[in-house]
Amino acid sequence: MRTIAVINQKGGCGKTTITLNLASCLAQSGKKTLLVDMDPQSHCAVGLAVPEDQIEQSIYDVLIGDSRGEPLRISEILWQISENFELAPSSIDLAAFEQQMSGIAGRENCLRRVLDTAANDYDYCVVDCPPSVGLLTFNALRAASDVIVPVETGYFSLHGLSKQLDTLSILCKQCSQQINVMVLASMYDIRTKMAREILAELKKHFGDRMFQTVINFNTKLKEAASLGQPISEYDPSSKGHKDFLSLADELIASDTTTQRSRMVNELHRKIEQISASADVMLAESKIEKVETPQVSAAMSANVLDAKIADFYGVRQMEQAVMFVSCYPRAGKVCIAGDWNNWQPEETSLQAIQDSGKWYTTVKLQPGKYRYRYVVDGQWMQDPYNDSTEMNPYGEYNSVLEVK
Ligand SMILES: Nc1ncnc2c1ncn2[C@@H]1O[C@H](COP(=O)(O)OP(=O)(O)O)[C@@H](O)[C@H]1O
Ligand SMILES: [Mg+2]
Repeated sequence: MRTIAVINQKGGCGKTTITLNLASCLAQSGKKTLLVDMDPQSHCAVGLAVPEDQIEQSIYDVLIGDSRGEPLRISEILWQISENFELAPSSIDLAAFEQQMSGIAGRENCLRRVLDTAANDYDYCVVDCPPSVGLLTFNALRAASDVIVPVETGYFSLHGLSKQLDTLSILCKQCSQQINVMVLASMYDIRTKMAREILAELKKHFGDRMFQTVINFNTKLKEAASLGQPISEYDPSSKGHKDFLSLADELIASDTTTQRSRMVNELHRKIEQISASADVMLAESKIEKVETPQVSAAMSANVLDAKIADFYGVRQMEQAVMFVSCYPRAGKVCIAGDWNNWQPEETSLQAIQDSGKWYTTVKLQPGKYRYRYVVDGQWMQDPYNDSTEMNPYGEYNSVLEVK
């Protein structure tokens, strides 16, 4: 499934219009498409004639259920819009999501986890985002393989755009999954000189980071939304419909390229895993020689600390980096970090028999990496690594420099 988040912190730049008409045109082209509304204003339901007062459960319930360990399947909240096209509606509760999730580890990955469960059921998922860069948008970004940034070709459109793209690029780096960010010119009125100039400027700046397709200003799009219909139903012969079909075609055409780069990534990861397991064999022979510190009454706290510091933490070895930590009561210890897209399942530690010690080795290229331990689902910083950095949630990531 390819997940496309439509993001711009400005309201009224065409996000919802793009999300729902793109989703409908992808479905019309035979692609199984899921639209997820992450904006508490629920405009997607309005634009698709889903009666708001009949929505009993929304994407909010699925996201909160996931974080509370009372999972609600996304399939239980879906509304069928047309053949191949389903909507996961939002609700006003979503406005409280950020506050409710405050301090909860992994809260930025809720949507990603939920969409993973539906990945085999759809070809595309298009996510409409609220006009702000908060936890809801960050969830969309963490789940996304592609981001569309709609830019209205009007007077104020360029204002703050580069700052916004900078923010987006910082967020993408934090995600460290490959996200393909593309700018889409929207509400283009070719008759005005200013729109033509702005479009030329956008093309000059963004080049191949821009869709060839331009979404023209077309009152039929406004009328369609006010009647709760996608443009494909309201007026298939309109310019608006042609634009969205062309956008869907452009995306579908880039599928193979995206798939290829995904396959290359996958292959890369497999190779890394194989070479890392060779290192584990090497490392194991060294680990055997490491004594478990004995806690004795005679040992002062300082000496104990020093011993622990000596044996635990993160160390660069010849071929890989070794992580050693102590969680005597844990059932499962993993690490989420830059190198595994913050997916803890990818890097799990092995318990060293009855010692409370856990270890793993990871092959990493030189560079700076951030990571957190995930101990029985709880995210935490490495207690044996003093090098830390605050993350956007006010928590600390542990930091590692590989030379
Ligand atoms: N290409 C377009 N042509 C004409 N009207 C448009 C177009 N795109 C959006 N609109 C209208 O502009 C308003 C804001 O668009 P919307 O998609 O709701 O923006 P956002 O989701 O970014 O707030 C809506 O009334 C919508 O119908
Ligand atoms: Mg909107």
